Amino acid sequence: MKKRIVIIEGDGIGPEVIRQGKKILLCINNKFNHNFLYTEAIAGKLAIRKYNNPMPDDTIENCLKADAVLFGAIGDDKYDNYPIGMRPEDGLLRLRKKMRLFCNIRPIIGYENIHYSSNTINKPILPNVDFVIYRELSSGIYFGKKGRLKNGEIAYDYCMYSKDEIKEIGIMAFQAADARKKKLTLVDKANVLETSRLWREVIQKLALDYPHVQLECLYVDNASMKIIMNPIDFDVILSDNMFGDILSDEASILSGSLGMIPSASIGKNKKALFEPIHGSYPQAAGKNIANPLGCILSVSMMFHYFGLYKEQKLIENAVKNSINNNIITKDIVHPLEKYYSTEEVGNYIELYIKNH
Ligand code: IPM
Ligand code: MG
Repeated sequence: MKKRIVIIEGDGIGPEVIRQGKKILLCINNKFNHNFLYTEAIAGKLAIRKYNNPMPDDTIENCLKADAVLFGAIGDDKYDNYPIGMRPEDGLLRLRKKMRLFCNIRPIIGYENIHYSSNTINKPILPNVDFVIYRELSSGIYFGKKGRLKNGEIAYDYCMYSKDEIKEIGIMAFQAADARKKKLTLVDKANVLETSRLWREVIQKLALDYPHVQLECLYVDNASMKIIMNPIDFDVILSDNMFGDILSDEASILSGSLGMIPSASIGKNKKALFEPIHGSYPQAAGKNIANPLGCILSVSMMFHYFGLYKEQKLIENAVKNSINNNIITKDIVHPLEKYYSTEEVGNYIELYIKNH
């Protein structure tokens, strides 16, 4: 299969995890005789230094022309006080908007054999966790008008949603639930927010088209408690941009660490971007300790998107195998066991793929 892929390393641990993701991409390319052509583009700190812009127009152009984008991470606290639009994170938001990536998919899966660092969680059930978060990604409070009034004494961020925006991701989430365990949980704050009331209205109406899917509506405060208390109760969680951001970091702990979670962002006109959700994690940058599994699993989500299911499955099996054999990074290993570097985990997975 011929595909054009743009790869963006970005900031912090981005380059290290992307190196492993790229390794797996090329390994699959060679093993299955595909014709993946990839080009690199820059964003984040490097782009600010070079072009004074965290997401240069060139990079956006390249991404819009590609069949898929593989993204590392963006963010650097050196730029925290830069003006609106100039911070690295603003670059990522601009790319999401330009590619019109409205549907962000974040699977949360529990595993045997990894060390769950939190002792507040009901550990025996964790390997049975299997749900997926559908987060709206190109609207809401992230993209509403924002600013300051009265010489900076007052700040505001508007949250706005249209029925069409809600319906668009709603359909994706219902379809996913229909193909899975047939339960959809809408997470909102409809007891307080008008946007949430619109979400409920639209999603409840849409539910009539999916009679086999059970719809549950939860307030976000309640949902965040239930995700920890009874995570096996969820199948597909649907939420707006902000709540989805928060809940996905919370839920990642059920997979052992934030470093485990991949994501797919699907846009209009067949645009798509794949990225681990962990962010740039500058404290770990350059130490070869970052968990590459979120990035490697993002590559497998890319293959799923291409319809290459054999390739997708092979990567997933390789990841499971590395976890079962304790070839894992520091963040998920038991404190008394040996841990492996970012590179070593990537190499192990590459070898598994070559041999299977
Ligand atoms: C994520 C990240 C981003 C977000 C940041 C880096 C802007 O936290 O993808 O979850 O808030 O969407
Ligand atoms: Mg986040």
